[in-house]
Amino acid sequence: MGHAGTELGAPAIGGERSEDTFRTLAALLRRDLDFGSSDSGYASHAIHPFAAKFPPQIPRLFIEELTQSGDSVLDPMAGSGTTIVEALMLRREAFGFDIDPLAVRLCTVKTTWLDPVDLQRRCLAIIEDALDMGKSGSHLRRELETRYDAETRKFIDYWFLPETQLELLALVLAIERVSEPAPRGFFELVLSSTIIAKTGGVSMARDLAHSRPHRDPAKNPRNAITEFRLRSAKALKKFQNLPQRVKKVFVAERDARNLPLPTGSIDLVVTSPPYANALDYMRAHKFSLAWLGYPLRALSALRGRYIGSENLHGGPTGELPRRSAAAVRALAERDARKAKVLAKYLGEMRDALAETNRVLKPGKGAVLVVGPSIMRGVPILTHEYLAEIGSSVGFRLAGVQKRRIDRDRRMLPVSLDRNGHSTIEQRMHEEYVVGLVKE
Ligand SMILES: C[S@@+](CC[C@H](N)C(=O)[O-])C[C@H]1O[C@@H](n2cnc3c(N)ncnc32)[C@H](O)[C@@H]1O
Repeated sequence: MGHAGTELGAPAIGGERSEDTFRTLAALLRRDLDFGSSDSGYASHAIHPFAAKFPPQIPRLFIEELTQSGDSVLDPMAGSGTTIVEALMLRREAFGFDIDPLAVRLCTVKTTWLDPVDLQRRCLAIIEDALDMGKSGSHLRRELETRYDAETRKFIDYWFLPETQLELLALVLAIERVSEPAPRGFFELVLSSTIIAKTGGVSMARDLAHSRPHRDPAKNPRNAITEFRLRSAKALKKFQNLPQRVKKVFVAERDARNLPLPTGSIDLVVTSPPYANALDYMRAHKFSLAWLGYPLRALSALRGRYIGSENLHGGPTGELPRRSAAAVRALAERDARKAKVLAKYLGEMRDALAETNRVLKPGKGAVLVVGPSIMRGVPILTHEYLAEIGSSVGFRLAGVQKRRIDRDRRMLPVSLDRNGHSTIEQRMHEEYVVGLVKE
């Protein structure tokens, strides 16, 4: 990380138009892309929960069939880095960007080989340090008072029991003593996985990995240091299967609409953009990021820059193509505000797809995985709108394939509509893989 703002990679070479890519992509999109029973937890894929990540078999298939060793693969909304890990394993150059700080940390750690023996040794030292610090509660309490601003402190006080706060702070301080960034990043994520967890997370929230946070006053969280020990052991095991980097892997916190890449430099994009009915990543991620030193105020400010956020200030301008505009009009008849949110989302996706188009070599492909949703009873066929928008910014549509999804494995959040029905029930049984080729 940290090179954000520089232009990367070699200038575009040749960039021949390729009917081959179009034909291969179209054929791949006729295959069964469900991967329902495949193992999705190998290598570093499952070291930390991340909502709506796609199975690694999706990027693997397209990378294998559409690129060769040494080619460049991009995910401009990389999330937990599924595409980037696969590109690394297949010896492609990989570029991963995301606006979410936790996603970027995840993506970085998941693609950095670390010596398991060294990690094991450091892990024991961190636990010993943390337990040692725990003996002096007054020192930790003083540190708690000064380290976090009032707003962040209030958040921490609401969501974490006093004893958990001391355990987490002891771990934070012990991890800070690790001077090398790569292993430190690894342990920060292990710490994060004790908080953002499907079950057994150490905050007072129920199931942070899955849902809108609800405080459960009856919850009795486990000791954070014990959880850290258990989760470290699991993550360490997974890391033993991650190969070392042989090609360039570059990961940075960037907006998909403004990538630090030269025009015509990328051989393949595989990505899964946010859905129209936005999934608020920050809602859960701030539970870890607050402990990792991000003031709550900064995180709230960042939230508005996520594609699909409901913050309507300063949205994109310009016309949407026909079907997309019609969808916005249909929604406006039910809910004018929601229609504005949808129009903003589609405009932002148009800008992101135009940027994706810019950085791709001519004739090369972009694979998007998106799902439909229902807003105020109106079906939102995101895949159709993105296919149409893609065509309006310089892509040719190679095909669209439906895939069935296992909602538990895809870790989609639960939220209820006005009538108390799960919106997941309405929207999440299937999603679509859209294949585009740069003209
Ligand atoms: C569905 S997730 C991607 C999941 C990913 N395929 C995986 O397997 O983990 C969508 C991602 O888009 C990111 N995102 C939202 N707005 C963005 C923006 N303006 N620029 C870059 N990334 C953005 C979110 O932070 C989130 O990580």
